[in-house]
Amino acid sequence: MKPPEVIETDRLRLRRPVMEDAAAIFSTYAQDPEVARFVSWSVHPSVDVTRKFVEEDCVAGWKTGQVFPWLITLAAGGDVAGIIDLRPVATRAEIGYVLARRYWGRGLMTEAARAVVEWALAEREIYRVWAVVDLENPASQRVLEKVGMTREGVLRRWVVMPRQGPTPRDVWCFARVREREATR
Ligand SMILES: CC(C)(COP(=O)(O)OP(=O)(O)OC[C@H]1O[C@@H](n2cnc3c(N)ncnc32)[C@H](O)[C@@H]1OP(=O)(O)O)[C@@H](O)C(=O)NCCC(=O)NCCS
Repeated sequence: MKPPEVIETDRLRLRRPVMEDAAAIFSTYAQDPEVARFVSWSVHPSVDVTRKFVEEDCVAGWKTGQVFPWLITLAAGGDVAGIIDLRPVATRAEIGYVLARRYWGRGLMTEAARAVVEWALAEREIYRVWAVVDLENPASQRVLEKVGMTREGVLRRWVVMPRQGPTPRDVWCFARVREREATR
């Protein structure tokens, strides 16, 4: 799989992160406990942790093909607003995302996720794009519904979300599957 390094939508420019983005990632969302409420990572205590994340998850992810993260930036001005990633495994790809608090409630994540989901489902080898979301995170559940995913069921004790405590949480599994032949 060779995802595009840049995906453009009406209001957003999704692009491959670089080390120089660490400070903006840290200050816009990675240090915000509210953003990290229902995610599997812990709030970054310092920009050094963010640098390590950019190097070991983002830069390495694109190199190895294990995960493709795009920084979500505003088309107008280029400010960092969040991040979205795609993890392909065999014929499936999982998405995950976060948006800085100041940008919530404007339809931006729906716009970003729709672009990534549609790109992935147009890939010949991908038949299923899916995501998990905490039972208590209705805004994210709504995003997944708006990008055409179906609520498939609850995965019990699926993932630890550090802000919720040390034990794995129950999550909804959402997916959208290929209905017709791929275009690529
Ligand atoms: C979840 C998140 C990505 C949503 O981003 P966003 O850009 O605000 O989402 P959108 O504006 O595209 O859509 C949000 C939808 O949820 C709805 N919503 C928001 N809060 C809600 C709530 N408490 N209950 C029910 N629906 C809610 C909105 O009304 C909107 O739906 P609508 O268009 O039908 O009105 C963002 O809040 C975020 O980054 N949260 C923290 C990180 C996170 O939880 N990531 C997801 C992990 S699975």
